[in-house]
Amino acid sequence: VLDRPQALEDLDRLMQGANRAKRLVEQILTFSRRSSIQRKPIALQKIVHETMGFMRATVPANVEIIEDIDDGLKPVLADPTQIQQLVMNLCTNALQSMRSGRGRLEVRLGRLSPEDRASAPQTLPLSTPIALLTVRDTGHGMSEETLAHIFEPFFTTKGPAEGTGLGLSVVHGIVKEHDGAITVQSKQGEGSSFFVYIPLIPTEDQPEAKEQSKVPRGKGEKILIVDDEVTLCMSMSRMLTRLGYSVVSSSTAAEALDHFLKEPQAYHMVITDMSMPQMSGAGLAAELRRKRSDIPIILMSGFDAGLKMSDLKSMGVTDLVIKPFDMAALGSCVAKNLKTSG
Ligand SMILES: Nc1ncnc2c1ncn2[C@@H]1O[C@H](COP(=O)(O)OP(=O)(O)O)[C@@H](O)[C@H]1O
Ligand SMILES: [Mg+2]
Repeated sequence: VLDRPQALEDLDRLMQGANRAKRLVEQILTFSRRSSIQRKPIALQKIVHETMGFMRATVPANVEIIEDIDDGLKPVLADPTQIQQLVMNLCTNALQSMRSGRGRLEVRLGRLSPEDRASAPQTLPLSTPIALLTVRDTGHGMSEETLAHIFEPFFTTKGPAEGTGLGLSVVHGIVKEHDGAITVQSKQGEGSSFFVYIPLIPTEDQPEAKEQSKVPRGKGEKILIVDDEVTLCMSMSRMLTRLGYSVVSSSTAAEALDHFLKEPQAYHMVITDMSMPQMSGAGLAAELRRKRSDIPIILMSGFDAGLKMSDLKSMGVTDLVIKPFDMAALGSCVAKNLKTSG
C-alpha cells in the first residue's frame, strides 16, 4: 500500500470514518445504558481533574487552560464514567469553538454559594447542597437560533468529520440522570459558558443542609423589599418567593413608599437596606410607621454598625439582619418577626 498514495488517502479517510463511527456508537451506548447505571458516592473533583488530564493532551498550544477545583467538595452519587464523558463532551465543544485562534478554556468546580443558589434553576432540590461545574470558553459562541437547539439529539452545526450532534444531548441525559440541571450562556463571537448543577450527598456534618430544610416557610404573606443594590433585591426576592412569601421589591425608598401607600394594609412586613442614597432605611421606617404602627420592619446592614437594639427600636425598626446572609438566616428572621407581630 505504501507506494500507492491514493490508497493511503483512502485508508486515512476510512480510518476517520471508523473513528467517527466508534464515537457515535460510544455515545449511543451511553444513552441506552442509562437504565443500568451504577451510581456510587464519588469525589467529583477527582473525576473532573483526571478528565482534564486527558483533555490537556488534545489542547492546542495557543489555548490556555484554567482549572479551578474545590478539593474539599463533598461526594456526589454518580457514575464516574458518565461524569467523565460529560466533562469531555463539554470541553471538546469548547476546544472546537476555539479552533481558529487563541483562547482560554476555564473549568471550575465548587459548591454552589447561597447567593448563587437563588439564581440557580428552580428544579434543583431545595434542601441539598449543590456542586456547580462551569465550563467556559472564549470561542466563537452561538447565535440564539443555535442555542435553541443544542440539546437536541443529532443537532450539529459541524461538518461530518467533527460533529455527531450527540455530545450535548448525552450531557443533558447524564445531568438529568443525576437529578441535576444545566444552563448555558453564550453570544455569537463572545464565547460560551455551560453551568452544570449536581446535587451533593447531604451528610450529617453539613449543618447548612439541615438548617435549610428546617427553614420555616411562609403562607403567602406580602413582603416589601427595599435595596438600592438591584441584584441583592432580586436574589432576596427569589429566596423569599421560594420560601412561600409574596414579594414586592424596589430599588429606591421613594418607590417603596409609593407601593406601600397604595395599599398599606396589604403588607405583612418591610425589609429595607440601612444606607441608601436619598432616604436611609431609618428614614423610610419612620415614614412607614406613620401609616402602620404595627408592621414589622427589618433593617439590613452591610456591617455591624454598632447599632443597639434599643436605638433600632427608637427608629421604629423591629429587627436587624447583617449582610451577607443566606436563605436560612433570612428565612428564620422573617418567620420570627412575622410570628411575634401576628
Ligand atoms: N462551547 C461551544 N461553543 C460554540 N458552540 C457550541 C459549543 N458547544 C456546543 N455548541 C453548538 O452546539 C451544537 C451541538 O453540540 P453537540 O451536541 O456537542 O454536537 P456536536 O459537537 O457533535 O456538533 C454544536 O454543533 C455547536 O453548534
Ligand atoms: Mg460536541
